[in-house]
Amino acid sequence: MSASDLTSDAVRLAALHRRMDKNSLGGHWQDRERSQKLVPVLWPWSAIEPCLMEAAEVVKLGHAEEANNRRTINLVNPSLAARKSTSRTLQMSVQLVNPGENAEAHRHTPAAIRFVVEGDGIGYTNVEGEQMPMEAGDLILTPNWTWHDHVNPGKKPLIWLDVLDVHMVNLFDAMTFESYPGAPGSNQLFQPVTKQEGDSRRRLGVVRTPRGAHDGSALPYCYKWRDTLSALEERAAAGDSDAHDGILLEYDNPVSGGPTLPTFSCRVQYLAPGTATRPQRHTGSVILHVVRGAGTARVGAKQGEEQELAWGKRDCFFVPSMDWHCFANRSETEPAILFSVSDSPVLRGLGLYREEKA
Ligand SMILES: [Fe+2]
Repeated sequence: MSASDLTSDAVRLAALHRRMDKNSLGGHWQDRERSQKLVPVLWPWSAIEPCLMEAAEVVKLGHAEEANNRRTINLVNPSLAARKSTSRTLQMSVQLVNPGENAEAHRHTPAAIRFVVEGDGIGYTNVEGEQMPMEAGDLILTPNWTWHDHVNPGKKPLIWLDVLDVHMVNLFDAMTFESYPGAPGSNQLFQPVTKQEGDSRRRLGVVRTPRGAHDGSALPYCYKWRDTLSALEERAAAGDSDAHDGILLEYDNPVSGGPTLPTFSCRVQYLAPGTATRPQRHTGSVILHVVRGAGTARVGAKQGEEQELAWGKRDCFFVPSMDWHCFANRSETEPAILFSVSDSPVLRGLGLYREEKA
């Protein structure tokens, strides 16, 4: 092939690229933007809390359709800073409702959970008319398209973690939001309480009424911390621990018996004093929150080159999909407890779940 043939091909290729570009077409051989590999991140509570407390003073709660309808601080992955996203699929944020405040009712296609950090059981989330008192460690589900508002008639700030599948919903262009209409002529934009406390537990709990079998639609639910903690402690007492996970429990969905929500699962993990887990990796990213204790996580794309994250009580951290990771409880006397959320149900549903254990 002569030099002039090569020049001719290069000229034609450049012209082809221009023509394709003009017609919104692209060649598989052309350069393109690739997704950036996400890296481990630690958000210390010592950084989150002062920002949250200051926001409580300077950010007033607005109405349902305003951006300040919720006073939440997003945990931002530095690789996803433009969208203030925690991961590509899930958003974890920290929300505060002061005494006397209420965050007005709305509903949206993203499903959400609340994991309570500080709450004395006076403040509550109302989901579909059921008042769910919020005590530290409780997990409350607000499935896709359920009405929810947050009310704090108590004397102490109410603080919790919000996790939403909002980035998945946006990926599928399925975002819809609606403000609560309120009663005609009323400016009270929060829901009336229409169900007795504990209604969903009586209908959906492990021991439940056989009458009126549930129709399978998504319903709110609250997993009380006292039940979760006793399940962990019973297993700890029985020595029922796994080399890669310690004691790892899943919050099963009470309707389906499957993952907590169709799009993400919630888990709680107990690491006995002085114990460490063996390395593993899997598809699906995980966002963790330290409920109790202190320790370290070794996280990284290559074994032997992991980054060490030192975590303490209430810190949050991120383990990217397919990164090797293992955790250690550095205390010789106190257990460590981690709450986590993962997009693994979606990966399993799509046939994309893989795992490897060392
Ligand atoms: Fe919401």
